[in-house]
Amino acid sequence: MTPPTILGIVGNPRPESRTHNLCRTLVRALSAALPGGAETDEVDLAVLGPRALDPADADAIAAVERVLAADVLVLASPTYKATYSGLLKGFLDRLGTGALGGAPAVPIMLGGAPDHRLAIDVHFTPLLLELGASAPVRGLFVLESETEDFAARAQAWVAEHHGALFGPITSCAASPSPALSGAAGSTVS
Ligand SMILES: Cc1cc2nc3c(=O)[nH]c(=O)nc-3n(C[C@H](O)[C@H](O)[C@H](O)COP(=O)(O)O)c2cc1C
Repeated sequence: MTPPTILGIVGNPRPESRTHNLCRTLVRALSAALPGGAETDEVDLAVLGPRALDPADADAIAAVERVLAADVLVLASPTYKATYSGLLKGFLDRLGTGALGGAPAVPIMLGGAPDHRLAIDVHFTPLLLELGASAPVRGLFVLESETEDFAARAQAWVAEHHGALFGPITSCAASPSPALSGAAGSTVS
């Protein structure tokens, strides 16, 4: 059986950001939780830059195709002005309404202000629903002060939500993979 594809989209305009790191870490934790693993992929919008908005750009078109083909999505953004980044929104505006066809999607935001935690529920999740993703679990808001030990948090979070996240794409969803028993795993960058 072909392993599912888990794709991360990074909406930070700066390359190799902490946001990017969180995205990678969560994608890896999700992949490790599947009994047969997953194919992982990422679209780093910092690489596309302004081309993310160019309807004729071949790389941006290819990035959209990879997003549409993914089985599970992780969408990561820094918190800018109490919501996700404009770069991420500009890229996602290329997708049609409902285009994600029910694919499970997890939003994750990195921010400096605890009072913006609800941005994930109030702004980010509705965007994903408009695009046709399912949002089987509440997204993650990570404070800048919480980035150091995020790998352990990601692993525990995936273990907690395994059934809801993977139920739609695998019949093995009832029990977490052995990789998750005993949680607290290695740190990944
Ligand atoms: C233009 C700009 C706007 C920001 N607005 C907010 C905000 O409204 N709320 C918040 O919690 N953090 C805000 N921040 C802080 C960023 O969310 C935080 O520094 C960022 O997530 C760090 O991610 P990075 O290290 O991946 O760049 C803002 C940062 C910038 C540059």
